[in-house]
Amino acid sequence: MPATTLIGLDIGSTSIRAVEATIVKDRPVINNFGQAFLPPGAVVGGVVKDDKAVTSALRQLWTSHSFTSKHVVLGVSHAQVIVREIDVSNLPPKELRQALPFLVRDALPLPVEQAVLDFYPLEKPGKKDTVHGLVVAAPKEAVIETVRAVEAAGLHVAQVDLACFAALRASAHLANDTEALLDIGANGTNIIVHTDGVPKIVRSVPRGGAEITKMVASRLGITSAEAETIKCRVGLKRDEDGGNAESAEVVAEAIRPLITEIRSSFNYFAAANPDARVKRLALVGGGALLPGLTEALTEQLGLPAFLSDPLQRVNDTRKGGRHDVLGRFRSSAAVSIGLTLGAT
Ligand SMILES: Nc1ncnc2c1ncn2[C@@H]1O[C@H](COP(=O)(O)OP(=O)(O)OP(=O)(O)O)[C@@H](O)[C@H]1O
Ligand SMILES: [Mg+2]
Repeated sequence: MPATTLIGLDIGSTSIRAVEATIVKDRPVINNFGQAFLPPGAVVGGVVKDDKAVTSALRQLWTSHSFTSKHVVLGVSHAQVIVREIDVSNLPPKELRQALPFLVRDALPLPVEQAVLDFYPLEKPGKKDTVHGLVVAAPKEAVIETVRAVEAAGLHVAQVDLACFAALRASAHLANDTEALLDIGANGTNIIVHTDGVPKIVRSVPRGGAEITKMVASRLGITSAEAETIKCRVGLKRDEDGGNAESAEVVAEAIRPLITEIRSSFNYFAAANPDARVKRLALVGGGALLPGLTEALTEQLGLPAFLSDPLQRVNDTRKGGRHDVLGRFRSSAAVSIGLTLGAT
């Protein structure tokens, strides 16, 4: 069988990332990476608001990076993506896809006619009458807008996949226990609690790095660009001599609501799954790079937190090795990398 080359495409609210990979023996070999920044407001909460800006950024990216493929696996993230555990009839994959709207109709709070549906088995189908798994439903409207903007750039959407599952595939630390993976973006954070790579709960919280920058700017009376620099340099870390104390204090206050959301997700998980306990926190997304964040989460949630490496399950043959753009932006690239890991 000839090797397949495809592109994992993540359209985030701050930038677009494209990872080109050739699948060799089920393992992606990355041969190209590109990223293009988006103007603020072009994409909000996973929804394309300015399709022309997105299309033009994509065109530019393809021109400047000489990607060899136009076939993309598109990551979808939307605050209204719904994930529910469900038992469905044990049908062959093709029949299941056709029957899915009828099988899950009553389990969803939105009309199936208005949703893009997918099913993610949580057990091997076997010979039973039913299969236990997750039904994933995304509002068609959000997905279709994004697909349109991508196709207008001359690309072909070969597959659509949930961004948080992609981040999970790339970044989970697999051990025979339960972990929470956090993808902390600019305007949204995905919380995925999983047991050995199998998602248990998925939550999207409309909070991330952008609100910290905003609060730092308004509290310290500085521009957003200055606030962004201070946030990335100081974060939650005050100097030993007490320097930066004010900035670190504002950042700590700004991140508090997100930490509260994370804690409440764990409480929800614990109530529904008394036998499984979250053992650690793996972090990805640009927001995860906030200086002092892993230490603060470890302390405040009482669980070890660490920055995960989304390149751990792929091979990277590009020149430039670890000192290139993908190396530097790997945390933000988690979704785009994971999209190449799930492609079939
Ligand atoms: N070194 C750093 N320290 C603190 N924050 C950082 C650092 N680098 C990037 N960020 C923040 O990460 C956020 C961007 O993260 P990411 O690239 O994952 O977002 P996105 O995928 O574009 O957005 P979203 O997922 O919300 O749509 C921004 O708020 C940025 O300020
Ligand atoms: Mg993101």
